[in-house]
Amino acid sequence: KQEDRIRPHRFADYIGQKDLKQVLDIAIQAAKARGETLDHLLLYGPPGLGKTTMALILASEMGVNCKVTSAPALERPRDIVGLLNSLKVGDVLFIDEIHRLSKMAEEILYPAMEDFRLDITLGKGQSAKTRSLPLPKYTLVGATTRVGALSSPLRDRFGLIQQLRFYAQDELSQIVLRTAQILQTDVSEDGAAEIARRARGTPRIANRLLKRVRDYAQVKAAGTINRYIAAEALELFQVDPCGLDWTDRRMLSVMIENFNGGPVGLETMAAATGEDTQTIEEVYEPYLMQIGYLNRTPRGRVATAAAYKHLGFTPPNQQLSLL
Ligand code: ADE
Repeated sequence: KQEDRIRPHRFADYIGQKDLKQVLDIAIQAAKARGETLDHLLLYGPPGLGKTTMALILASEMGVNCKVTSAPALERPRDIVGLLNSLKVGDVLFIDEIHRLSKMAEEILYPAMEDFRLDITLGKGQSAKTRSLPLPKYTLVGATTRVGALSSPLRDRFGLIQQLRFYAQDELSQIVLRTAQILQTDVSEDGAAEIARRARGTPRIANRLLKRVRDYAQVKAAGTINRYIAAEALELFQVDPCGLDWTDRRMLSVMIENFNGGPVGLETMAAATGEDTQTIEEVYEPYLMQIGYLNRTPRGRVATAAAYKHLGFTPPNQQLSLL
């Protein structure tokens, strides 16, 4: 699959997240030297920053297999029991969206994480018996966009809890150039920088924009993708120079035009924009906050003066000074 070709497979090829790479590299070297498995690891941060990629790299650096699943796929107890039963010594078990585990799945996971033990109930009611089966030592890697949504008993069972941060522009530029090479597309340095600038600090978005620009260049232009072609293409796809797309801009303009810039409650924003609260919280808001266009306050969301200016409105404090 193309996704697998674009993903880095080794730490050496993974651009950015320097602090996280250092922490994990030390954990890997220490575990390897002691001949032990890695501690359970919780990765959190906005979508598209490389949590799954990091889990796959971790497994390959440890020289073990990685089983990849997602909490919504583990709805019935037998799903997680089956998965745990299939693990071999040292394996990495990656569970995406781990904050969405059902209560029952969580309760199976507690002893499976802490004591490498699988507690199962056989039969029902009065005649029910519990059996305890040993599991091989393995490493659970959990990923979540909302670390606060994890129950504390689950969170407490991870030896390492690490955050992925938004990427710097130059890191995203390097990622675009790397992906362009894999896709056999000619992109100049300034072309890559233009795509990086509009990628909201997120490699998944950078790579997605690169593919759109590549299509555009193939049809509308010839030769290397430079910054003019990149800007033209992304203009057409309504990705503005700050990387905001139509929905981002709509979030801000609804706040400004319908609610005087806020504070607006999350539910109100969801109703007014037709997006669901979780998507607003996990996908749209983190980047708008990161670039200083939105604040979360106890009374609700507030659009900043920078957001007003970006959309061509006069910020409220300046409105006062104009009177
Ligand atoms: N592709 C997506 N994310 C990447 C990263 N962090 N480094 C290199 N290539 C990537």
